[in-house]
Amino acid sequence: MSRRAIVGSGRLLPMDGARTGATTAIDGPWVLVVEDGRIAEVRRGRLLVTDPDEVEDVGTRLVTPGLVDPHTHLIYAGDRSDEAAARSRGERYDGGGILRTVAATTATRDDVLVRELRARLLAARASGTTTIEVKSGYGLTAAAEDRLLRLTAVAAEGLPMRIRRTYLGAHAIPVGSDSRTQTEMVITALPELADAADYIDVFCEPGIFGLADTRAIAEAGALNGLRLKLHADQLVRSGAALLGAELGALSVDHLEQIDEADASALAETSTVATILPGPALMLGAGLPPARALLDAGATVAIGSDANAGTFGEPSMPLAIGLAVALGFTIDEAMWAATAGGAEALGLGTEIGRLRPGTRADVVAWEAEHEGAFVYRLGGVHPHWTWFGGEHDD
Ligand code: NIG
Ligand code: FE
Repeated sequence: MSRRAIVGSGRLLPMDGARTGATTAIDGPWVLVVEDGRIAEVRRGRLLVTDPDEVEDVGTRLVTPGLVDPHTHLIYAGDRSDEAAARSRGERYDGGGILRTVAATTATRDDVLVRELRARLLAARASGTTTIEVKSGYGLTAAAEDRLLRLTAVAAEGLPMRIRRTYLGAHAIPVGSDSRTQTEMVITALPELADAADYIDVFCEPGIFGLADTRAIAEAGALNGLRLKLHADQLVRSGAALLGAELGALSVDHLEQIDEADASALAETSTVATILPGPALMLGAGLPPARALLDAGATVAIGSDANAGTFGEPSMPLAIGLAVALGFTIDEAMWAATAGGAEALGLGTEIGRLRPGTRADVVAWEAEHEGAFVYRLGGVHPHWTWFGGEHDD
């Protein structure tokens, strides 16, 4: 059995509260005992004679669980930053550019896709993310979606982070096809693909995939063992978020267009509301009612949504700072980036909190207080990150 202790004299945020923002900071000295890669004990005070001999001291640094990014689209090729420039001049985002990325990705060799994805995963890891979700969705045929899901596993090999994959064959409609045909493709491909994914997702949006398509895909996904996560109410308020909750989705994501009544209704369900502050703030197409969700007691996560078109940075420290710009308190944003993300992935008992039994994914930050995530927007970096109790130098 391997045993070690991490000790500190500054702030420790265990994020052990059940609901968003409900966390008590522990001011040092404190001790975290790690056994076989899991947290065995969290307590105030100094080392005891019964504690392990192997001790790592973080001094006055702020310590949190490893960050959890529950929503990314990191496997792609090509560059669409020209679209961001066009949007800065007032052009609207309608998802049409996704097909440009599909073409670029399809034309790119496996080894190049793997190299580029691995670089993005390492960037996320360097910013304190220890668990990340990656969606397919830039393939759109059965073979191309299968390829992206399997290459994601190849890129993830040996990295000190946990990767969860989502099948997003319902991301866009290929030229010459229609939503019905694409929905059928998504469903027909499921038995072959299901072992390469953990979740299923749909870009549920009027004119792209409708509520009926979404229901059909969600039900087929469930039959193949894939839990639902949904792109919901991003561009138009369609009832997608509430449909997701009705279908038992783990999370409904984006939510820029939901109203306060939707927010209250969502808070009554166990579906997590995932807010994506980066694209929400940069697309200029409406902001999610973050305060209404939080005040109604919804379980809220935040994610980077790093993707090929609307927002590229897989940085959770940046997402935390931007969440505050959307109305979160820093305590709510920290919880949403750790425990909330874990809930959005169905991993709430495993990760995202530092309490006996959870994985010892821990970050000691180059900061003394969580206020730094606001004050140094996107500029706070880990000093050490432990993944399953092992840290990189
Ligand atoms: O979550 N909204 C749909 N999908 C992505 C954007 C994908 C793209 O434009 O390439 C998102 O923002
Ligand atoms: Fe997305």
